[in-house]
Amino acid sequence: MQNILVTGGAGFIGCNFVRHILQHDSAANVIVYDKLTYAGRLENLAGVSERFGPRYNFVRGDICDTASVERTIAEFNIDTIVNFAAETHVDRSILDPDAFVQTDVLGTYVLLEAARNMGNLRFHQISTDEVYGHIEGRRRSVENDALLPRSPYSASKASADLFVNAYHTTYDLPVTISRGANNIGPFQYPEKVVPLFITNALSAMSLPVFGDGQQMRDYQYVADHCAAIHLILKQGSIGESYNIGTGSEMTNLEMVEILLEELDKPRSLILHVEDRQGHDRRYSLDVSKMLALGWEPDFTPEEAIRATARWYRDNRSWWQPIRDGEFKDYYQTVYGARKTYNETR
Ligand code: NAD
Ligand code: TYD
Repeated sequence: MQNILVTGGAGFIGCNFVRHILQHDSAANVIVYDKLTYAGRLENLAGVSERFGPRYNFVRGDICDTASVERTIAEFNIDTIVNFAAETHVDRSILDPDAFVQTDVLGTYVLLEAARNMGNLRFHQISTDEVYGHIEGRRRSVENDALLPRSPYSASKASADLFVNAYHTTYDLPVTISRGANNIGPFQYPEKVVPLFITNALSAMSLPVFGDGQQMRDYQYVADHCAAIHLILKQGSIGESYNIGTGSEMTNLEMVEILLEELDKPRSLILHVEDRQGHDRRYSLDVSKMLALGWEPDFTPEEAIRATARWYRDNRSWWQPIRDGEFKDYYQTVYGARKTYNETR
C-alpha cells in the first residue's frame, strides 16, 4: 500500500480519511479522485497540500469514466483503491435514484474493471450498515447476513457490495468491504441529520424530526471510522467484510436532546414532521469482527454528537456558504411543503 487512489476524497468521510492516512502512514501517497458534486468540496481538503506536499495529489474525475480512471491509475502508479465515491443521501435517493445507480453501481463496476485490468490492484469498498436493511428487535447484523436493502440508496450500495464480492470470487481480485454505521464529525454536508439539526439550531430554525423520532441509529465519530478502514487495509483478510460502528444505538429524539443540550438551545425547536417514505427504523451492527482485529472506537455516540456540535458551532465559515447555496433549493424541496406529523395521522 503505497500509492492509494481515494475516490470521493473531497467528501465528508473521504477528506477525513485522507488526513488520517497521510498523518499515520509516512510511506503512503494519496491521490484523491473526485467529481466534485454538490457534496464534494475542495475546501474540505484545505491545508492538505501545504502540509503534505508531493505525497498528496488531486484529480477531478468521474468514477464512471473508464478512460479517466485508467489514465489516473497509470499516471500515479496506483496499487490500492479505496472507494468512497458515491451519492450518499437517502432523501435525495427517494427524490431521484438515477445518480445513485450511475455512481454507486456503475461507478463501482468501472473501478473494479480498472483494478482487474491494471494489475489486480488491492480494492477496498466503503459500504454502509444500510445494506442489511431494517433490523428488528434486539438483533444485530453480522457480516455474512443477507443484504436486504429497502431504499434506492441502500439498494445501490448493496449492489456494489455484490459486485465487489463477485470480482473476488470470479477474478481473485484482492478486495475487502467495510460497512460503517452513521458517521458524524467535521465537514459533513448539512443534509444529514446531525449537521442539519446543529446548523438549524444555530440558525434559530426548527429541527424537522421525521415521524415519531423513535428510529435508532449508531452515531460514530468519523475519526474512529477512518482508523478502522486503515487497519483493514493493513491487516484485514482478503475477501472479507467488516462492520464498523460503536455497537450501540440511540433514538433520533435522544440524539436531538444531546445536541440541543450541548448547544444550549431549547427543546421547543423540535418539530415532528411527515415521516420519510420506507424509513428504516433501526440499524444495528455487531462489530466483534472489527474488535478482534484490534480496533476500538475512541468516542461513544454521545461524545461524538457533542464534539460534532462544537465543531459546527466553531466553524460557521465552513457551513454557512453551503447553506446559502444549492442547499436552499434542496431544503425547500424536501421540507418546504412537508406536513407536520400530526397532520399525517
Ligand atoms: P459525501 O456525500 O460527503 O461525499 C461523496 C463524495 O463522492 C463527494 O466528494 C463527491 O464529489 C464524490 N462523488 C460522487 N459521485 C462521484 C463520481 N461519480 N465520481 C467521483 N466522485 C464522486 O459522502 P460521505 O458521507 O463522505 O460517504 C462516503 C462513503 O461512505 C460513501 O460510499 C457512503 O456510502 C459511505 N458511508 C457513509 C456513511 C455516512 O454516515 N456518511 C456511513 C457509512 C458509509
Ligand atoms: P440520515 O442522516 O439521513 O442518515 P440515514 O441514512 O441513516 O437515514 O438520517 C438519520 C436519521 O435521522 C434517520 O432515522 C432519519 C432521521 N432524519 C430526521 O428525522 N429528519 C431529517 O431531517 C433527516 C435528514 C433525517
